Parts: sequence; C-alpha cells; structure tokens
Amino acid sequence: MQVEPDLISRESLQLQLEQVESDFNRSAGIPPACYADAGLLALERRAVFQQGWVALGFTDRWRNAGDYAAMDIGGVPLIAVCNRQGQLKAFANSCRHRGSALLGGSGNCSKIKCPFHWWTYDLDGRLKVYPRMENALDFDPADYGLVEFPVVCSHGLAFTSFAQTPPDFGRWLGDFGERHAQWRLEDMVVTRLREFEVACNWKTFIEVFNEYYHLPSVHPDSINWLYPEPDPVDEVRGAYTTQFGATDGAAALLFEHQDQALPVAAGLRDRFRQGTRYTWIYPNLTFAASQDSLWMYQAFPLAADRCHVVQTIAFPSASVALQDFGQRALHYYDRIDAALAEDLPFLEQQQRGLNSRFARPGRFGALEPSVGKFAYWYARQLLADLDAS
Ligand code: FES
Ligand SMILES: [Fe+2]
Repeated sequence: MQVEPDLISRESLQLQLEQVESDFNRSAGIPPACYADAGLLALERRAVFQQGWVALGFTDRWRNAGDYAAMDIGGVPLIAVCNRQGQLKAFANSCRHRGSALLGGSGNCSKIKCPFHWWTYDLDGRLKVYPRMENALDFDPADYGLVEFPVVCSHGLAFTSFAQTPPDFGRWLGDFGERHAQWRLEDMVVTRLREFEVACNWKTFIEVFNEYYHLPSVHPDSINWLYPEPDPVDEVRGAYTTQFGATDGAAALLFEHQDQALPVAAGLRDRFRQGTRYTWIYPNLTFAASQDSLWMYQAFPLAADRCHVVQTIAFPSASVALQDFGQRALHYYDRIDAALAEDLPFLEQQQRGLNSRFARPGRFGALEPSVGKFAYWYARQLLADLDAS
C-alpha cells in the first residue's frame, strides 16, 4: 500500500527516518510529520501497532469472569475479556453478523450481546444466540465465533498481537523480566484506572513521561525537587527502554505528603529502595515503577493529533492490605494528577507547533535518552514497512 502523506513527500519521510540513529547522541528526532500527518497514521498503525506485540495493560484489570474492556489499538477495535476459566481473551470488537462493534467502555458482562440484532457470544467468543436465522442455508454457528487474537500474560502484564505470524514473544520482550524482577509487577494491585482524551499525538504523551528534561520548566514547584540526575539509560535487549533514577524522597508524593509514604516494596534492594524506574514498552505503554507504587499510561492514537489515554495506578498487595491504605493512597493520586495537569497544556502546545509543515526534526539532549531509544525503534519499524511496500 502506498503512503500518501499530506505534509511531507515519501522521499523526504524516508530520508528523515534514516537520520534517526541508534546512538541518541548522534540521532535526529522522529520526523514531525509522524506526529501530525493524517496520511501517515495508516502507515503507523500497520508498521507500529500491527507487526509485533502490543500491551493490553495489567492483567489485574481483568480479575473476575466477565470483566471486559473495549479498546481501539492502532485502528483495531478489540474486546479484552476474562472468560469463566479466568483466562484473558482478546477478540475483534466486530460482530460476525454485519460487523457492528459489540461493546464499548469497560465493565462486567455475562455474555457479549450485539446491540444491533442481538447475536450473542459467550466469553470464549462462541456464537450462542442468533435470532431468526432459520432461513440461512448451511448456516453453522460454529463458523461465526468472534475473531480471536493471541494473548500472552507475562510479569503481570497482558499482551496481544495482530500479526499474521506474531514474533517470538520471549525475544520481543527480551530481558524485560530480569530488569524488572525486583518490582514484582505480578504482585501489583490496580487501585485506580482513568481514561481520557488529549489533543496531542500518542507518542508525545509517552515521550514526556520518559524524559527528565522538562522537569524544571514544566514542574518547577511540584515534582522537580524530587529528581536529581538519573542513571544512564539501560542498554537492554527487547522492544522497550528503561532508566532508573534515585529520588530525594518518595517520587509519587508531593512535598507536603512525604510523611504519608507507604512501605517500600518487599522485593527492592539497595539503591532501588529509593527511586523510580521509568520504562516504556513499545509501542505505547509506559510506567513509573517507584519504591512504593506504580503509575502507568497507555496512549492510543485516535487521530494524528489526538489520543486516548488509559491511566492506571497500582500498589504492592501488602500495601493495599494496610488498614489506612485508602486514605494514604489519595495523596499518591494527588501527586500523579498534579503532574499530569501540568504536562497537558505543554503537550497541546507542542502539538500546535508539530502541526506545521515547517516543523523540522530536532536532536536529543542528555536528559532524554529513552525518547531517543524509542525514536530509533520507531523509525526502523516505519522504514521496514516502507521498504516492503
Ligand atoms: S450486526 Fe451484530 S447482530 Fe447484526
Ligand atoms: Fe511531566
């Protein structure tokens, strides 16, 4: 399929993508058109969201049979639902009758019932109810189950893939498990989940979360004081980037609530007992694993200049079991909301500049290595697709 970008020629796009290098000290940034061009979104959906594995979120989001979430993952409407055996399933959110989306939002259901003509599926996607179909010759409901995608649950997170032949999952995630073992992601309990839309490209939303560069300008009075110079970015194997930084206190609390800090997670040793690991699992899930809590964002493209964001906050199970957990957790929510509220106007302002056809690729500073790492991975995904088309 030919790409027809509006803001940039295919040749310029290719040239600009080739300037994105593996060494972020040398690399150019992602071409601005990739943040603004409606025509490029189709290429991005295919090359970035539909080739490898994409995270669905914490498996803890789907605790009980029938817990479901409808998502749009890079242009694929999907239902993630927990079946009666406690397994997480992923189905195309497209009715097998005449294609209607089946569910929206999230909640709990005992079956998946199409609102249009009431075809109804069980939690394994099998078609069970199909009114007035007695006329249809050779109609076998077994042929009309929901289209299913593979689901892999690993380190407390669930992933799916739309690829015809998904890449080997173990190789895709590489050494993610070892590098995050001390944070015991599988023990995390989701205590708050919110969804909202932002008028910015999905990548910019995740980029700002993964760089320390903007802290003094965007968060001067709220969280900047928490963060001294971080460690260098980790050299990892797998489709992710991560950077640990020691902090001056509990990074998930504002100054005035530091005395409300919850216990340090049981698995953490040495320096990891006071600091935060910022991780970005490509393409679109990122989290901060701090000493006592974890906050996560998933950003899904709705348009080039608009994204849907899922914010998840989680804590180690031992903390959630504390008697005063509910009260103390509120201070964590305050800190996360405060930082987000400060980021949002800057993201929307950045988008206004990116929308210009005169925007040009920049460079990466010392405090944005993870943004550079992602840029390289992203550029390679797009170039591979452009080469093949
Ligand atoms: S489109 Fe779903 S029942 Fe008709
Ligand atoms: Fe920020």
